[in-house]
Amino acid sequence: MKTTPLTGNIGAEISGVRLGELDAPTFREIARALWAHQVLVFRGQDIDSEQQIAFGRRFGELHVHPAFSGVDGHPEILLIRNEGKAKTITEVWHSDVSCDERPPSISVLRAVEVPSKGGDTLWASQYAALESLSEGMRQMLEPLRAVHRKFDLEATHPVLRTHPETGRRALYVNQGFTESFEHMTPQESRPLLDYLVGAGSRPELTMRHRWQPADVVVWDNRCVMHYAVHDYGDAPREMHRVTVRGERPM
Ligand code: SIN
Repeated sequence: MKTTPLTGNIGAEISGVRLGELDAPTFREIARALWAHQVLVFRGQDIDSEQQIAFGRRFGELHVHPAFSGVDGHPEILLIRNEGKAKTITEVWHSDVSCDERPPSISVLRAVEVPSKGGDTLWASQYAALESLSEGMRQMLEPLRAVHRKFDLEATHPVLRTHPETGRRALYVNQGFTESFEHMTPQESRPLLDYLVGAGSRPELTMRHRWQPADVVVWDNRCVMHYAVHDYGDAPREMHRVTVRGERPM
């Protein structure tokens, strides 16, 4: 297995592995690479739904999306298909289903059909985001908790969370789900939330993936946000996502 870092802050491309037939030592190496790089890109992985589910399960119990049904009798697989720019909900910086009490830890996204141009996905390191803030801002954020809401779910999580595997701290608010700071109104919260999402998605904190069919990208929602660019009109784009049930953020 070869690991090639993609940027200064986030992401690595992994080559020399086949996700459909992993042995235990190789899986452990992949997990270590994920903790180190936060997002891993695997090109040309010809895996089916069962193999994608089996790969996700190696990280833990799978999470089932609270609002959308699964693919071909697999409730664990979320279908993400182009239904027009107006209907897309992933073209905002977000961390998957952070409105859940136990939001997904890991996401595994497989490209089934991609447009000939556009449809890239971006990820931003929330370790690096937190490290880029001033000491004063970090001290102010330390005791704060935020309310995340969507799909009839509501959860309150710390604004700074500690990654259970690495012990590193990450900023944990996002545009898709975070509504307010605890005990504050959405209107009072908006300016600081907007500042944090903007500061946490500056270009030097990000990586961008240009998809090809059979690419698989794995990311860790506990330390990254992501954003799916919708710049491909009505062209077909179909992605299948599996997520792993995470712990309560601490
Ligand atoms: C997602 O937000 O999980 C999907 C990203 C994408 O479709 O590229």
